[in-house]
Amino acid sequence: MQIRLAVLSNAGGSGKTTLSVHLAYELGLSGFKVVLMDLDPQGSLTLFCGLTPPEPEQTLAAVLQDKFDGNWPLTPCWSEHTKKVVICQGGMVLTQTADELVLHKRGAYLLDDCLSDYPLNHDLIIFDCPATLGPLPLMALAASTHLVVPVQLEPKSIQGAAHLLEWYYYNCRHLRLKPQPEVLGFVPSQYDRKRAVHRQLQESLPAQLEQMDIRAFPAIRNSAEFVNASGQGLPLRLHRPSHPALSDFREITSHLAKLMGKPKKKSNIMSA
Ligand SMILES: Nc1ncnc2c1ncn2[C@@H]1O[C@H](COP(=O)(O)OP(=O)(O)O)[C@@H](O)[C@H]1O
Ligand SMILES: [Mg+2]
Repeated sequence: MQIRLAVLSNAGGSGKTTLSVHLAYELGLSGFKVVLMDLDPQGSLTLFCGLTPPEPEQTLAAVLQDKFDGNWPLTPCWSEHTKKVVICQGGMVLTQTADELVLHKRGAYLLDDCLSDYPLNHDLIIFDCPATLGPLPLMALAASTHLVVPVQLEPKSIQGAAHLLEWYYYNCRHLRLKPQPEVLGFVPSQYDRKRAVHRQLQESLPAQLEQMDIRAFPAIRNSAEFVNASGQGLPLRLHRPSHPALSDFREITSHLAKLMGKPKKKSNIMSA
């Protein structure tokens, strides 16, 4: 089954792009074909994938035009190491797209329409969303089968995530999404066990989420190597192949792998 995963959070810096990149590379490594889609005008995915900013016609903005003919602008990521991951780039042009979505009759459904009219045969499509609850994340929600919420272990971020859930429940009803995209879970990010507030929230979060039947995945630990890796345009595994933080992604990647079923073909990730 194809999974379309919206990586959503209304807080900037909560680790959406980092999570998107690592899920894509780790699952590519297991043989799954993955598309990263950048719905963020900031275009961080381009940077994190070590690519140069695209021309507007090579971005998701071009896909969302009425004249789109199904020729998805997909660029290979980390192509010396994998053939499994491609990106549909974003960037500043998406600010204009966001304005146009508000006026378009199919606004929130446009991306879902494109994926129905011109299907991609990948196992996983990841929507890396901007830190707003505006028209672009709404469009991602309507096109997704699942969503995942990275959250920093700080009171303000947790409160923001509660607002995000309200937004999710409201809009699933309002947009009449059937089936309703499922909340895969929350992923605590940048966890620093030396900080008391992180430890406290890390302990209390699973029980709070359980009341809403939402899973808390293991936290992604804080490490400067994530920043260094992204600066090199690489996932952590290519930057520091034996870094302990890589194991933090194991539970969520195996959960996604189970949902997707067997990869269509044998892995052809080349060794790092
Ligand atoms: N686990 C982590 N440890 C340390 N720094 C991290 C971690 N995850 C992300 N970062 C850094 O925090 C910043 C924000 O992360 P990013 O993924 O861009 O968040 P968002 O997409 O939600 O804005 C980036 O500089 C990134 O490299
Ligand atoms: Mg981002």
